[in-house]
Amino acid sequence: MANMRFFATAAKGTEPLVANELAAISAQNIRPIVGGVHFEGGWETLYRANLWLRTANRVLMPVAAFPCPTPAALYENARNVRWREWMTLDDTFAVDCNCRDSQISHSHYAALKVKDALVDEFRDRTGRRPNVDRQRPAVQINAHIAKDRCTLSLDASGDRLHRRGYRRQALDAPLRETLAAAIVELVAWDNEGMFIDPMCGSGTIVIEAALKAMNYAPGLLRCADSGRRGFGFQRWRPFDRKLWGQLVDEARGAIREKLPGRLLGYDISRPAVRLASENAKLAGLERGIRFMRGDALKLSPRGHRGVIVSNLPYGERTGEMEALASLYRGFGNVLKQRCAGYTAYLFTGNLGLAKRIGLRTEKRFTLYNGPIECRLLKYALF
Ligand SMILES: C[S@@+](CC[C@H](N)C(=O)[O-])C[C@H]1O[C@@H](n2cnc3c(N)ncnc32)[C@H](O)[C@@H]1O
Repeated sequence: MANMRFFATAAKGTEPLVANELAAISAQNIRPIVGGVHFEGGWETLYRANLWLRTANRVLMPVAAFPCPTPAALYENARNVRWREWMTLDDTFAVDCNCRDSQISHSHYAALKVKDALVDEFRDRTGRRPNVDRQRPAVQINAHIAKDRCTLSLDASGDRLHRRGYRRQALDAPLRETLAAAIVELVAWDNEGMFIDPMCGSGTIVIEAALKAMNYAPGLLRCADSGRRGFGFQRWRPFDRKLWGQLVDEARGAIREKLPGRLLGYDISRPAVRLASENAKLAGLERGIRFMRGDALKLSPRGHRGVIVSNLPYGERTGEMEALASLYRGFGNVLKQRCAGYTAYLFTGNLGLAKRIGLRTEKRFTLYNGPIECRLLKYALF
């Protein structure tokens, strides 16, 4: 069978990481662009991508691409797609759309055009139409319109991949799981020394580090959750249940039993620590990670080797800035005076505050937290 084309969407800055992950699952013709990575392969590649990618947002499978200078062109071309190959009349569906640099600039209107085209195609042929379900569609369709060209794709992930399932509630500015995983990818942890997040919030960074160290495919969490509906491709007509079952079994068999290093998360807030512990339990990691209450300004790690990785608060209210500046300064001193032998990686969306850390940056990575341009700053501590 000829290769199929896929596209993994990714937060700006994480595209090379997604490309590396795709190479690790033997995807072919991997081509990163801004906002995602093109790749090719068969069903196995698509299923593996959903099961194993830690840093991508979702995986799309293009089914048509065409010029669409007008709504009529969009409608006509969307109507020519053989939707029936992918879904039945009884499947619900939804269309989401993103538009840029195009004459069609209203994404909601464009999504409606695609919806009408699909409905009309079914109705004219069969006399019946499939229904829209915006909340829980069986089949999710994406229309991407850029420079008057539209790509229509089926969303193979369904729910976004960051929704692993271990985080039921969120506190104070949690990181998306996929962004936390990107930070973990950039951190050079040998899986053996300590991994410490002294301001762990809901524990996302530590949990993602543990999942990676255990070679735990993040998609398995979704499979294990009976309340969830699995991935989008599982509801497509050509779903290969047997192949999927094999890949899931293989991923289960690949999990390392024990974490080689030690993972610790601290937070000054009791509710955060409680939530982080609950999240680790939901991820099945309660034995491998410890979350405790602690003040980052009193951190004094016992081991002599490892990494300190944290997403520092970077509040936007002016009243907070004074307190945050003193937290950054104080934490910089802690790193300098008590953490020799460690490498620190601090993630922040406030570059002014980052300067208060007062240490020489060895390396910096630019990542985006939604629209906010952030830095992951690396410090070697001697
Ligand atoms: C941006 S949040 C971290 C979010 C986390 N990465 C997540 O995904 O949930 C920053 C955290 O730092 C904690 N914090 C602030 N000052 C602290 C201190 N002095 N010691 C420890 N934790 C602190 C806050 O309670 C908050 O949970």
